[in-house]
Amino acid sequence: LSKIEIKLSDIPEGKNMTFKWRGKPLFVRHRTEKEIATEAGVNLAELRDPQHDKDRVQNPSWVIVLGVCTHLGCVPIANAGEFGGYYCPCHGSHYDASGRIRKGPAPLNLEVPYYEFPDDSTVVVG
Ligand code: FES
Repeated sequence: LSKIEIKLSDIPEGKNMTFKWRGKPLFVRHRTEKEIATEAGVNLAELRDPQHDKDRVQNPSWVIVLGVCTHLGCVPIANAGEFGGYYCPCHGSHYDASGRIRKGPAPLNLEVPYYEFPDDSTVVVG
């Protein structure tokens, strides 16, 4: 299937769920207010792959990224690592709660796929 439809009400605040999309893991994260504020306030000068949080999300509550580490493709662990977003155990890459690389060998932020919100409770990826 080239598109996947996800019901957002199934994902409580503070949780990240993993789906399979085009043979890859897809992360859908329901951020807390604290995570939203933290990521919006990050100084871009600190980032290896500088991207503002608002350029990575359509709705600040929802982060939708591929669960594929940009180093060598392992699947990062959610809600782990020094920046509270994702941690890749293969070689120790730390991502923040926007999916941006913050520490470790990965060169790039987690990839944001094309997606749309057809209504308030649904996202369609692909
Ligand atoms: Fe993730 Fe190497 S594959 S750190």
